[in-house]
Amino acid sequence: MCGIVGYVGDKNAQDFLVSGLKRLEYRGYDSAGVVTFDDDNRATLIKTKGKIADLEAKLMGNKREDKVGIGHTRWATHGEPSEVNAHPHQVGDIYLVHNGIIENYKELKATLEGKYEFKSETDSEVLAALVDSFYEGGRYPLTNAVVQALKLVQGTYGIAVMSDKNPGEIVVARAGSPLVIGVGHGETLIASDASALLGHTKQAIYLNDGEVATVTDKSVEIKTLNAEPVSAKVEEIETNLAAIQKDGYEHFLLKEIMEQPRSLKETLRGRIDLRDGMVRLGGPGLPEKELRKVKHLVIVGCGTAYNAGLLASYYIERFAPEVTVEVVVASEYRYRQAYIPKDSVALIVSQSGETADTLACLREIKKQGIKTIGIVNAIGSTIAREVDGGTYVHVGPEISVASTKAFTSQAIAMVMFGLTIAQAKGVRSGILRPYIEEIAKMPAEIQKVLEEVKGPVWEIARRYKDYDHAIYLGRDTAYPTAMEAALKLKEISYIDANAYAFGELKHGPLALVDDRFFEFAMLPTGELYEKAVSNVQEVLARGGHVIAVTNRADFDLGVESVVKITTSLKIFVPVLLNLVAQLFAYYVALEKGLDVDQPRNLAKSVTVE
Ligand code: AGP
Repeated sequence: MCGIVGYVGDKNAQDFLVSGLKRLEYRGYDSAGVVTFDDDNRATLIKTKGKIADLEAKLMGNKREDKVGIGHTRWATHGEPSEVNAHPHQVGDIYLVHNGIIENYKELKATLEGKYEFKSETDSEVLAALVDSFYEGGRYPLTNAVVQALKLVQGTYGIAVMSDKNPGEIVVARAGSPLVIGVGHGETLIASDASALLGHTKQAIYLNDGEVATVTDKSVEIKTLNAEPVSAKVEEIETNLAAIQKDGYEHFLLKEIMEQPRSLKETLRGRIDLRDGMVRLGGPGLPEKELRKVKHLVIVGCGTAYNAGLLASYYIERFAPEVTVEVVVASEYRYRQAYIPKDSVALIVSQSGETADTLACLREIKKQGIKTIGIVNAIGSTIAREVDGGTYVHVGPEISVASTKAFTSQAIAMVMFGLTIAQAKGVRSGILRPYIEEIAKMPAEIQKVLEEVKGPVWEIARRYKDYDHAIYLGRDTAYPTAMEAALKLKEISYIDANAYAFGELKHGPLALVDDRFFEFAMLPTGELYEKAVSNVQEVLARGGHVIAVTNRADFDLGVESVVKITTSLKIFVPVLLNLVAQLFAYYVALEKGLDVDQPRNLAKSVTVE
């Protein structure tokens, strides 16, 4: 997702714009730019293809003491990464930065062709021209021109707009792409993610869809597109600077893998009552009598969030009587005509809380009158604010594009939600207590495993880093875990990694086994362990290069590589085996010299379709 920053106040605007964009660069981008205005409203517009370091190099020759400006990091959607396609776009008197997609930009462009000559291939430049066409050189207030333009727009946007004819004022608006306004002393800051505001202010106003704000150094005035006043709700930004720094780790990804004992502890804080053997979730806000009636869960997510939901579904089916669990990929589900039974609850799973497809599903499901519960990490995000209730996973900002700590906490949070349903349905504590006790022990078990396997996994990663293909294998709860493990490898090492249920091997994938592939076999203890072991033997019989990951000390198949973990857990062993897979993916990418935290073609939060 692109990044937006803005500043108006008594300090140097360029400094905040660049530092703010750096905070957002983990989200993935391919070009950047800033525009600032001096006291005589003269604009200095600097854009570049490439990284923020390239932008800083250009700014060296254009150091300004200006006190107002906007900036942007672009992740190309319409038009290649280039300086001309980079934002801010300047058209006439208007300077504009934009996150999102203007679906009807071609039609709008056609109405403007006669009046404007377009330099870029972007939909954003069309939006800037549209605003300018209503601004008429400052004859109308900038905010009015922005509103008139947005009323013609179909699609999603988060925008910040300025003009050299409208000094000291920034107009921001959003529909489907987040924007937050930081309220400081004698300054106001804008960002597409609250992390850019840290160190400057903890007071934030989260703009909602359909709202437009007129911002100066001392005021924030919010209205809807229909000019209805909106009272600004100032909230405390919950995270802190330390949470978005590497704390000595080489990459955010390794930091986030290694901090899972702490992050899971935060997820569990106040929610596990070991004395009574109960889970207590306040956020969903579903009274017992409603929980008791739940017959069907729909779990919606993308990527890792989907995998977490699939893993949780295996557990929930075991202890929640007569509850069916359906896990769906948001980008597919939003266009299906799926009927959801009335006695359902939908879990909307999203780390960022901004994923466009997941948000679209949420809105569709709400239209059916189904209760929606968010399993979200980003506080104040769009999904978090639109669900009927929710459970924040509280893992802290997840900076690396590859999701790790969020996966673990999302899966456990959903299991805990399932346990509250089982509790409401009167399931005996004797059945539920083993789950609850293991969940409570998990942070310490995660700590032990991470310390135990880090070195050996790095050594194994060195041996497999040059493969181009990988098969990940698991059964039962180790199958969705294998899916997540494969996703981790493919997205940061670019190795073609796919997961299959062990039982599916004979239905096709076994044909793949040859020297081009290695097999990553997840073998947790359990009643299906022996079956999985015999599946591994089928792979070995065909010359497979197997990495086995297991908690069984007695595992002794002649595989090429094995990682054994020791744990007292019996139920949630796959969650621990996934730690091995996370570290494996990290070290393979590291050994390949790739950009571990910002892999090619990916963004941390996919706010466009
Ligand atoms: C995870 O490693 C991926 N980067 C990606 O699949 C991610 O999980 C997906 O885009 C969903 O993001 P969300 O949880 O913020 O909605």
